[in-house]
Order: sequence, then structure tokens, then C-alpha cells
Amino acid sequence: MLTPHLNRHADGELAYEGVRLADIAREFGTPTYVYSRATIVENFRAYQSAFAASKPLICYAVKANSTLSVLALLASEGAGFDIVSAGELQRVIAAGGDASKVIFSGVAKRSEEIALALSHNIHCFNIESEAELFRVNDIAIAAGKRARITFRINPDVDAKTHPYISTGLKSNKFGVAHLDAVRLYTLAASMRGIEVHGIECHIGSQITELSPYVDALRRLLSLVDDLSARGIHLHHIDIGGGRGITYQGETMVSMNDFAQAVEREIAGHHLDLLLEPGRSIVGDAGLLLTRVEFLKPGETKNFALVDAGMNDLIRPTLYDAYHPVTAVLARDGTPTIYDVVGPVCESGDWLARERALVLEQGDLLAVLCAGAYGMTMASNYNTRGRPCEVMVDRDEAHLIRERERFEDLIAHERIVV
Ligand code: LLP
Repeated sequence: MLTPHLNRHADGELAYEGVRLADIAREFGTPTYVYSRATIVENFRAYQSAFAASKPLICYAVKANSTLSVLALLASEGAGFDIVSAGELQRVIAAGGDASKVIFSGVAKRSEEIALALSHNIHCFNIESEAELFRVNDIAIAAGKRARITFRINPDVDAKTHPYISTGLKSNKFGVAHLDAVRLYTLAASMRGIEVHGIECHIGSQITELSPYVDALRRLLSLVDDLSARGIHLHHIDIGGGRGITYQGETMVSMNDFAQAVEREIAGHHLDLLLEPGRSIVGDAGLLLTRVEFLKPGETKNFALVDAGMNDLIRPTLYDAYHPVTAVLARDGTPTIYDVVGPVCESGDWLARERALVLEQGDLLAVLCAGAYGMTMASNYNTRGRPCEVMVDRDEAHLIRERERFEDLIAHERIVV
């Protein structure tokens, strides 16, 4: 089938694990994000088994999907977490995650966020600038603690992915320059509030090839050796996230080849390994279920106008991203070519373009591979409440987040005239 645990019954209806999507729409309405618990678990375990030799700390990148049940499920599988804000840290804790397995990434951490993370004794801060190093040092000293840190190194390698999600080039705002690293590590090692712990890079997202990782790793390992020659010994290497998924026939380097290559590179360095995968854990484990409100033949195009919009799933319009779309009920007939578009007042409000579908008004569509950067990037544009979320577990469907109501949207407003 198109995505794991999605199957079509003999009567033509789609089911996710053991639950018919039409039943989910009936019970919870649309648009709705639906996740497959089994897929999330399988994706996480695929990392564990491929990397069985190095037993890395797998710090799931919370930004990909931060819904509490998703975090709780991953915590129960033993995951650590990569966070980029105090809010994400609080989500991890609310979900029962272990703060001692949390790493804190991000270029502009606020003082309160650093203090909160220190108070929870997180595993490590991934430092992205000299100014941030000073800030973390000051806050740690004031708290009577030492903050474990890595520097995020910008290895200046091309991840060969979309420019908006490529982060390892010199021209990006991320990380510290390779050339500056020795000076910064030496400075950090002299600071009372800092414990130099590791080295990190994250070169981009939706990476399909192996070579960018190997190139980046080699750049980092040469630094590790340099530092060691200067008496600065690191304990871990963190290769970030970025492993892609198949949205549209992309072929991915296999998980085993990926793991073996990484393990081969770091062999003999006596470094613990950390990973920060996001998309590859949840991306193909979720879909957006939406209903066709109207079919509208246009002068040059046919539109399927659905009840999900760019505010619910922004990836297509933001990155020109492709998500597979399939009808929940397979109908007989000659397909029509549709643009699948939402109700938002923007021409950029589209979910899919030029898809061959057999549809009638009122039909349901499943927008696939929407588990990562779907709900977390959703907004309330056009005063639309964000979708509800449902987790399917074999033949049960659990509501894990209610649909936002109008009252939720205005809850923090004050009328001043
Ligand atoms: N670590 C760091 C420091 C990151 O910035 C990210 C993602 C990850 C890990 C996880 O990367 P992943 O394994 O998910 O590729 N909104 C975009 C993706 C932005 C990724 C941002 N950073 C999208 O929808 O494609």
C-alpha cells in the first residue's frame, strides 16, 4: 500500500491499521490528523535495531510532531528528545519524558529557557554561537551548576535537499564555523559554568543520500582529533536528524547502510552516538483526513475544494512539497485531474496539484505522509480551529487532541476600543 498500515478493504474503503477512515470521519469529523501507533513504534525500533552495535541515544526531534501522546509513546520506547524551546521541554515533561535524555538545540535560546532547562538537568545544550556560550555559562554559574555543552558545527556540506530545509552550508544561520571551533572549545573548556561534552551537526532535512552525512561526519571527526591533541576530550558525537522519507518515489539509503556507514566512521573514536531524527519517525505515520466540500470545474483546471487548508498543512505551499493523496472510497470510473485546494482565501492554499481522482461531492480524501511538520506547523489563519488528532492502535481509534473551538481561539484576547 501507499504508506505503512494503510490498507484497502475488499469493498474499496481505506483503513488505517484496523480502523476504517470513514468511521473516523463519522466519529470525529474532518479535517483530522490520524496517526498509526504501530508505524511510529516500528520507525523508532528500526533505528534501534540498525544501530544495535552503537546503541545511540535517539533524541526524537519534538518539532516534527509534539503532540503529547506521540511524545509519551516514544518516551515509553526509551527515546530521548531534541527540543528547541521551553515549550517543547515542558511538553516532553508533561508527556512523562526523561529530562536527562533531552538535548536543547536552537540559535536564539532565551535566558529563561536556558534556566528552565538547567533546572531540569537536561543532558546537553547544543551551542550555536559564542554569545550563547557566554549566556549559558553565566546562567549556570548563577544556578551553581555546570552546563554540559556541544557546539553545533556548521560543516559546510550540501545536504542536497530543499534550500529552505538545508542547514549545513556556510550561508545558513546555524552552528559555528568549522574554522572557529578550536578557539571556541578552548574558551568553553576554561569556563566555570561549562562542561564540554560533545560535538554536533545537523545538516538539513529530507536527506536521501548517504554522502552528505559521511562528509559531515568526517569534518567533525577531524575536529574531535584536533581537540583531543589539545587536551580537550569529547564524550559524544551527535549527527543530527535529517533522514528523509518517501513522499514521491524518492529512494532512500537503507537504514542499515546508513547505520553501518556512521558506525564505520566513528569506530575507534570512543564516542557515544546521538541521533536527532524527526521526520523519519513520524512522517509516514500520519495522514490528514479531509472531506470534499465541492467539485468545481474551472476554465483551465478542475478543483476539488476540501475542508482542510494551508493552515492545517502548510508544506505543499511553503516548500512545494508533494504529499500523496488518495480517495478513501475507491470508486469505479474515469479519473479526472484535480487540484486539491482548501477553503482559505489565498491562491497558495493548495494541498496537491494535478492528481487523477474519481470523486463525488462529500467524499473523503487522505493526504498521506503528513505525520511530520503537519500539525506542528498548523495555524489559525482565517480563524480556523486546528484539526483534532486521532491515534489508531490496531482496531481502536483514540482521540488524542480535541478539535480547537472558537472559544479556544479567542481565549486570550481582550476587547479594547
Ligand atoms: N535536529 C535539528 C537541530 C533540527 O533543526 C531538525 C529539524 C531536526 C533535528 C530534525 O530533522 P528531521 O529528522 O525531521 O529532518 N518544516 C520542514 C522541516 C524543517 C526541519 C527543521 N529542523 C518540513 O516540513 O519539511
